[in-house]
Amino acid sequence: MATARLTLDPAFRIAPVNRRLFGSFVEHMGRCVYTGIYEPGHPGADEHGFRTDVLEMTREMGVEVVRYPGGNFVSGYRWEDGVGPVADRPTRLDLAWQQIESNQFGLDEFMTWTKEAGVEPMMAVNLGTRGIQEACDLLEYANHPGGTRLSDLRIKHGAAEPYGIGLWCLGNEMDGPWQIGHKTADEYGRLAVETAKAMRLVDPRVELVLCGSSNSSMPTFGAWEATVLEHAYDAVDYISLHAYYEEKGDLQGFLASAVDMDRFIDAVVATADHVAAKRRSRKRINLSFDEWNVWNQSAYTGRTDGDYQEAPPLIEDDFTAADAVVVGDFLITLLRHADRVSIACQAQLANIIAPIRTEAGGPAWRQTIFHPFALTARHARGEVLRVEATGPLIDTARHGEAEQLSAVATRDEEGITLLAVNRSATEPLDLVADLRAFGDAQIVSAVCLSDDDPTRINTKDAESTVVPRPLADAKIDGGTLQARLPAISWTLIRLTT
Ligand code: AHR
Repeated sequence: MATARLTLDPAFRIAPVNRRLFGSFVEHMGRCVYTGIYEPGHPGADEHGFRTDVLEMTREMGVEVVRYPGGNFVSGYRWEDGVGPVADRPTRLDLAWQQIESNQFGLDEFMTWTKEAGVEPMMAVNLGTRGIQEACDLLEYANHPGGTRLSDLRIKHGAAEPYGIGLWCLGNEMDGPWQIGHKTADEYGRLAVETAKAMRLVDPRVELVLCGSSNSSMPTFGAWEATVLEHAYDAVDYISLHAYYEEKGDLQGFLASAVDMDRFIDAVVATADHVAAKRRSRKRINLSFDEWNVWNQSAYTGRTDGDYQEAPPLIEDDFTAADAVVVGDFLITLLRHADRVSIACQAQLANIIAPIRTEAGGPAWRQTIFHPFALTARHARGEVLRVEATGPLIDTARHGEAEQLSAVATRDEEGITLLAVNRSATEPLDLVADLRAFGDAQIVSAVCLSDDDPTRINTKDAESTVVPRPLADAKIDGGTLQARLPAISWTLIRLTT
């Protein structure tokens, strides 16, 4: 039996756990908004038309921040269409996803929803078909207290207090040729810096996210980050990363996907710091990993047939047990980079490659990937600790050699949370953790998500098929924790100190 060892020590501090790492994403796409979070007429809808089952699951998941309204959608969006009396709102073509947008849900509904969900909003402005003026107008509508045309309009629409939205994305995936209003790095960098400067004149408290690459396989990856940062370094706070991973018939490579996420983060940090060095700047640009998830993307052929429908079911992937393990590993990776990754949003929240699925007029249910997110968000608190793991390597065709064990820990006033993934597709792994630095640590709980069949999923009628279950035989002896991690498993061990 292979063994991996690690050490838990309060001195191995990385950074505080930033609660914004537990973010999600709501895009006007498919059924994420309509019949996802919003469905007037649903038997469980509240007075605003919000699905209360989805609201409850969002809170249970521990989501802290939600990015809105896109995604590719935002690059053709007119925010004014989504405010004011619902009956007067225009129906439009959404070119990004080739669907009909009724605008029954917009900024004002989203802000009410965020309050009910207890999450922080993260807004994106349209830098595809629009520019500086429209971004400033939106910000004035949202954040200016009153006494101007746009802030008074918000008040007239029922929101007397400014929304005070702090986090703003300067467009979405502007490097991607599929993006409406796609730009070169120089074109986008110039537009982003001028938009950022103007937005700060409207409200100096905003935090601004510059678009990085849509993924690390883009031919312009690296050069894009360097160029846009050279334009906008002093005007922005974060640069974005997006990444989706899928199995592609190579389970072992897929299970090691977080290795790629890890390298992606390191490369963007290095690029941002390179630009800082060239500018002799002490300012550090941190990372907003504002789209990440598992997505069976090769199965998505796109929508280009001009068949415009309202809220069509789009990319409603069923997630497997293996997908949940990989999602758990992504969260471990994000926590391990907590010193530089400040924001992370799993894409998306409901129906679109989502932890929460719904049936129109029917129930909502938790997919497999719901669980590692919910438990990590609940228990990873306080400070993140490096764990100095050593152990076997596994060979993968996709990522080269990968550590079989992926692990991180957090420490708060009540104890320690140890998160661990066994990435092997076939072999269990013995975990040995040295806890002596914490004295007399005791196990409070140990749960593991794993399944004999890694392709097993949760369904509307069998929602609890793949869920975390108690991990047998985890024990502490003489300051050493021992546990056996099944192949393809995600584990959370909670300890008191
Ligand atoms: O999350 C789905 C889509 O993936 C988003 O709209 C886009 O930003 C990304 O390419």
